[in-house]
Amino acid sequence: MDQLTARLLDIYGTRATRRYGLSKVTQLQHALQGAAMAEAACESDSMVVAALLHDIGHMVHGLGEDPALAGIDDRHEALSAAWLAEYFGPQVTEPVRLHVQAKRYLCASDRDYLSLLSDDSVRSLHLQGGPMNEAEARAFCQQDAADQAVRLRLYDDRAKDPQAATPPFEHFLAAIERARLHSPVR
Ligand SMILES: [Fe+2]
Ligand SMILES: [Fe+2]
Repeated sequence: MDQLTARLLDIYGTRATRRYGLSKVTQLQHALQGAAMAEAACESDSMVVAALLHDIGHMVHGLGEDPALAGIDDRHEALSAAWLAEYFGPQVTEPVRLHVQAKRYLCASDRDYLSLLSDDSVRSLHLQGGPMNEAEARAFCQQDAADQAVRLRLYDDRAKDPQAATPPFEHFLAAIERARLHSPVR
């Protein structure tokens, strides 16, 4: 087993049993549901891996179970992207880095989006800066990975179903391997 696989199995086999914010799913269920949705939508391996690992930052910080409850933004999107940059290139790390900005963008650009957000996403939105203003939204759209980040965000928002059946984490190891080949560290 290579180092990345061992680290991921350790993290998702132990620390991912934490609840995902206020929702009724664990971090592991959230990760698997997002990745399964990306796979079902025929996304690239890089996007499947981004959906699977986008919140790894929540599991590698030392801020406790639910920092948002204490009014702290854990900046998990930056932590996730930095962690993943050791193993993957920008096709994986950029949508991950931008997935919180994508929420702020969607809040500003889509009237109905805010009403679809879960309670914990609304709560963290305020810690994360609230909906983007016009200049921020324009700047967001100009980023290369903006489209991928928005798609990742939409999988993220839907991946909170306590009843959903998913493949196990091991199912995605092949996509992880291929994503490393196709999106190598720069
Ligand atoms: Fe997240
Ligand atoms: Fe998430």
